[in-house]
Amino acid sequence: MIPRHKIDEILAAVSIEEVVGEYVNLKRSGRQLRALSPFANEKTPSFYVVPEKQIFKDFSSGKGGNAVSFLMEHEHFTYPEALRYLAKKYNIEIEEEEYTSEQKEAENERESLYIVTKFAEDYFKDQLHDTDEGKSVGLSYYKQRGFTNETIETFSLGYSPNKWEEFVTASKEKGYNQEYLLKTGLIKKSPKKEDHYYDGFKGRVIFPIHNLSGRPIGFGARTLLTDKKVPKYLNSPESPIYNKSNILYGIYQAKGEIIKNDNCYMVEGYTDVISFHQSGIKNVVASSGTSLTPGQIKLVKRYSQNITVLYDGDEAGIKASFRGVNLILEEGMNVKMVIFPDGEDPDSFARSHEPEELAEYVKSNAKDFIVTKTEILLKGAGNDPILKAGLIKDIVESIAKIPDAIARSVYVKECSTLLDIEEETLFSELAKIRKTAIQKNARKQDYDNYEAPLQVAEKPKSYEAFESNVESQEKDLLRILINFGDKNISITQETEGDEESEEIIEVGVAPYILHELANDDMQMSSDVHNQFLNEIVEMVTEDNWNIGRIVNHEKPEISGLAAELVTSKYELAKWDLRNIRVSQEDTKLKRAVDGALYSFKSKMVAVLIVNNRTMIKAAQDSDDYEQVLTLLKKQTKLDEIKASLSKPTGRIILS
Ligand code: GTP
Ligand code: MN
Repeated sequence: MIPRHKIDEILAAVSIEEVVGEYVNLKRSGRQLRALSPFANEKTPSFYVVPEKQIFKDFSSGKGGNAVSFLMEHEHFTYPEALRYLAKKYNIEIEEEEYTSEQKEAENERESLYIVTKFAEDYFKDQLHDTDEGKSVGLSYYKQRGFTNETIETFSLGYSPNKWEEFVTASKEKGYNQEYLLKTGLIKKSPKKEDHYYDGFKGRVIFPIHNLSGRPIGFGARTLLTDKKVPKYLNSPESPIYNKSNILYGIYQAKGEIIKNDNCYMVEGYTDVISFHQSGIKNVVASSGTSLTPGQIKLVKRYSQNITVLYDGDEAGIKASFRGVNLILEEGMNVKMVIFPDGEDPDSFARSHEPEELAEYVKSNAKDFIVTKTEILLKGAGNDPILKAGLIKDIVESIAKIPDAIARSVYVKECSTLLDIEEETLFSELAKIRKTAIQKNARKQDYDNYEAPLQVAEKPKSYEAFESNVESQEKDLLRILINFGDKNISITQETEGDEESEEIIEVGVAPYILHELANDDMQMSSDVHNQFLNEIVEMVTEDNWNIGRIVNHEKPEISGLAAELVTSKYELAKWDLRNIRVSQEDTKLKRAVDGALYSFKSKMVAVLIVNNRTMIKAAQDSDDYEQVLTLLKKQTKLDEIKASLSKPTGRIILS
């Protein structure tokens, strides 16, 4: 662990232009430095470094942050790795803080698991290349599959000899701890003989699984027998270093290519990845056996917004994978799919075709996921009206996962043609599904915590348009906080102990906004926004205004957002355009603050109102009258607030 004061020392020494300058060719342009984006292919430079603020912002990829986050993005360092890199660059010595004994133990265990796994990888490679059995069985299997030496090396393929205790003995000789060998599944306890162990992957070819930095964390082991009773693949068990739902096979070998091509091919298994790689398509990964998880999708999302899922021609298999693809849509990523001819999987197709033919096939057969799904289901349903009704629901469920409202409506239009059904019908089905989903997980807590009186905005025109807007209100408020939080504004308030008279006082923008939010018990709708807000709260409480704390935040989501908000030009004047009546003596800043507060609060309350209605309806449908009553009480409270809408207050002036 790097102690806090060391982190501060490193950050103080760093000059972002020096750090970034090692990777890109920075040219001065006014107070900023400009370059071609290292994260995207572009002809016009849209990557900026602002030395004054020690941040970078890349307008083509949207990435932004400080020197540390740049290194995390560009080098895929972890936070401590980036700090250590910088410490070295600036000759700062790090004396690592003492771990607690539990931390030490956990860290030691993980490190030990890495070490035995690396030992096993090397052992299996040696067996493959340097033993007679390895060469005649393992190597000839790979050759017969068409793998070249280079491929075997790239994927560190190996072989585990067909004897019971070869690995057990070899690892014992090296003195490795049995506990770790058992935890990684490399050896197994004999069910019959006390204190006897045997090799976990006996007589199998070995596909090591690597983490992002290329360290082996587990293995897939394929039998060479054709006996149906023997499982084709054995896989390492989950362990503190191998979390199956957060890793993809091939990601280490593919990540650079995924960035370069801005697309990731998703296949089923080890051999598909390897064959594609060998045929020149290197931006390819596999979920290997398990169905796709959100963690795996987020892993790809670090490198690209685009996934192309590749399927073999088997219809049952395709249908089974639709659910996994919905998870990709939910992440807001673009999904295409390629279907291979019946009887072929990506591996066999790659092997039986020239690299150019393969490239051409995936290129010309990559079709939009939702459109393809519609076509496939439509074919299956024929003219059966019940099947057709079911499939419409199924398709709309996929569309409902897409976070972007515009993309959703494009799909509705497209599917309306394909399904020969009115757009209106699809839209209303869509609204129903989204409402239920939102009601399930969104703002229940806001209702439950809700107490304080607020001003309320008009009911939004459409639920859809309304939903996608809440975030921008929150960002506006955060933008004001980070840019102007340390400035002062004057407000009028009641003189203490005298309701009749008012006085004008000076307050800081940040304390004022925080006070307003706390007064109304309001939070923001996402974790990132709330954490951002918390940092501001702490700066205000400690009376130490230092936005570096947010810009240099260890979480890249937060430092990235900070960079975005600090760099985007904030036009105070735009508030004049809004329909907000203000008195002459108000400053632009004061207006901006009140405008942002008002917009945020009214949106939030509008959310509460819309959600409350939905919940009442749901409670009525399920005959839960107690719940209906509780919700109606809330409704009354919200209505009261709505009534106060037209009454201007001293602080917030309404239209
Ligand atoms: P052949 O095509 O018969 O040469 O075998 P293969 O090794 O290519 O495997 P197959 O085509 O049957 O399966 C494709 C992928 O599914 C494999 O690469 C594995 O990732 C996965 N897979 C297949 N069988 C199993 C199994 O028994 N267990 C697990 N965990 N995964 C499997
Ligand atoms: Mn296969």
